[in-house]
Amino acid sequence: MKNDKLPLPKIDSRLNSIGIIMDGNGRWAKKRLLPRSAGHVAGAKIIKQVLSDLREMGVHHVTLYAFSTENWKRSKEEVDGLMELFYKYLDEQVLGALRSDKSFGVRIIGDKSGLPERLRRKCIEVEEASGDREFICNVAINYGGRDEILMAANAAFRERGGEITKEDLERHLYTSHSPDPDLIIRTGGENRVSNFLLWQGAYSELHVTSTLWPDFGRADIIKAVEDFYSRQRRYGGVIEE
Ligand code: FPP
Repeated sequence: MKNDKLPLPKIDSRLNSIGIIMDGNGRWAKKRLLPRSAGHVAGAKIIKQVLSDLREMGVHHVTLYAFSTENWKRSKEEVDGLMELFYKYLDEQVLGALRSDKSFGVRIIGDKSGLPERLRRKCIEVEEASGDREFICNVAINYGGRDEILMAANAAFRERGGEITKEDLERHLYTSHSPDPDLIIRTGGENRVSNFLLWQGAYSELHVTSTLWPDFGRADIIKAVEDFYSRQRRYGGVIEE
């Protein structure tokens, strides 16, 4: 059966929030003797279908890792290309989708102040066009988990003027509007979290697939969901048999 015709798995409220580390664009391009930028373009193209599948299954929050605070170390050519791709994607795909579909929302998480001014303004425009919607996609751009925790702790400290609680800190996380991810999927085969949702992912199940991001399709979603439901989430406790 063709990948996009496979029936989607049934899920329940245990799988409400998913984080995705979209890795492998460069290798996908290299295998085809294409520039890395072609891998990123191919990676952007599949996002819509993946979100649509996850939403149809009943997931309400998806967080995509698009650009980390460490990704600035890449060549200027690649970084500039990614910034341009994010701008075009938000402008051409996301704004239109937000206007035509009132149950779909987008938030940009990360340090927007470090982005090129044009992209920063586009991120704000997208968030203003969005709002609290039934399905939320968080796009992490210039995002780093350690920076986020530090930023949130400082903001909470300033607010409280003294010792802070877990709840104070969580109110200041970029993702305060979304529940912690139940599942984090990483494509491209590396067994690392790479500074993604460090606080929020403390108890997330991790599913790593060797599939490169531009090839990620329904068969991979099915495997990730099966893997998730094969685990017993104990949150550090013990489940009585
Ligand atoms: C990691 O693959 C991917 C990125 C750093 C960029 C992610 C961007 C996209 C999926 C495209 C656009 C996204 C949006 C939100 C429009 P890599 O380059 O590290 O791959 P490699 O490990 O094979 O080199």
